[in-house]
Amino acid sequence: MAGSDEIIGDEGKQHKGEPVVAPFDLNDFIIIKEGEAEILMHAKNEVFYNKTQVNNRDMSIAVLRTFVSKRKQEHEAMLSRKMKNGPKVMGEPVVEPEAVTDPEVHNGKSNGECEVSQGISQDEPCSMAEDPAPNQEAKGRGELKPARVLEALSASGLRALRYAREVDGISQVVALDNDKLSVEACRRNIKFNGSVACSKVESHFADARVYMLTHPKEFDVVDLDPYGSPSVFLDSAVQSVVDGGILMCTATDMAVLCGGNGEVCYSKYGSYPLRGKYCHEMALRILLACIESHANRYKRYIVPILSVQMDFYVRVFVRIYTSASAMKNTPLKLSYVYQCTGCDSFQLQPIGRTVSKNTSVRYLPGFGPVVSQE
Ligand SMILES: C[S@@+](CC[C@H](N)C(=O)[O-])C[C@H]1O[C@@H](n2cnc3c(N)ncnc32)[C@H](O)[C@@H]1O
Repeated sequence: MAGSDEIIGDEGKQHKGEPVVAPFDLNDFIIIKEGEAEILMHAKNEVFYNKTQVNNRDMSIAVLRTFVSKRKQEHEAMLSRKMKNGPKVMGEPVVEPEAVTDPEVHNGKSNGECEVSQGISQDEPCSMAEDPAPNQEAKGRGELKPARVLEALSASGLRALRYAREVDGISQVVALDNDKLSVEACRRNIKFNGSVACSKVESHFADARVYMLTHPKEFDVVDLDPYGSPSVFLDSAVQSVVDGGILMCTATDMAVLCGGNGEVCYSKYGSYPLRGKYCHEMALRILLACIESHANRYKRYIVPILSVQMDFYVRVFVRIYTSASAMKNTPLKLSYVYQCTGCDSFQLQPIGRTVSKNTSVRYLPGFGPVVSQE
């Protein structure tokens, strides 16, 4: 931990126009300790810090630890499969995954018909990236690089610092914010947390949406923890995660997600919420469906790992994969909900369905009514 009263800005890392950490007096701050991180909070408290979100951060650390170890297991399994199948022969033609999985060219069939896919494996290794991203370079040589994390909306940097200090197997945490005071605070906190934090955490003054769009498939983990709704960040976030990587996402706009303003929910998430007894579960499903819909635009799909409603928010953890054929299953995971106006009974009408014949599967719209009007 830094013991000095004055911490000077890290000029080496500053870019033009970015906030500089000015020398400061520790007496102007209180120290807040959470987990293994400590942050300096100014008496005026201009930078966001929410004590009650400690559960959110603790849970995310548990998920991150599990993800890091699962990623390692999957990588080892992939290597041993490769060993069994023998080395690739030099000059052997490489089949582009895109060509194999594009529905338009799949076996020359179209109109929603294709060969039965072999199902979606949750164990698909995280090194299956179609476009090798910079941090994946070593994978060609069979090495698994330590995970890189993007904390897209970082405020004081508390979460980023905790990830760096409390989770093994992470090489870097990039912390973004578009508020200069927050970036200044984050940089001060990185220094205050000593050498591990300084070597792993870097803070940038940036609009998270632009940063994620310009860093496609670069991060093993992307964390979104916005004020209110994450909806404006989802499109870029799903693109920034590597294949098999994880997106962690909080939404605190529970009134919207639980049916307070159905039309607002529709505009943000593309679903109409119902005020049923299941409204919290529905909030989670609406968020998951919205993430999947953005992922689908890029031939990607999600596998939910953990979905939680707690305190005043929902938080979901999903892995993201690329596969144009698996993506066709999305309508099978979605339904219209018919809620009885007189009692708690409800019925589901799937958006899509499949019809199998021999080895081929046709993807068709669902049909109704699933229940009579009475
Ligand atoms: C709820 S706070 C984040 C709290 C933090 N993750 C934590 O655990 O303590 C949301 C932060 O997002 C920042 N923010 C809002 N819009 C942004 C954008 N487009 N790009 C980057 N940061 C943004 C805000 O300045 C604010 O600091």
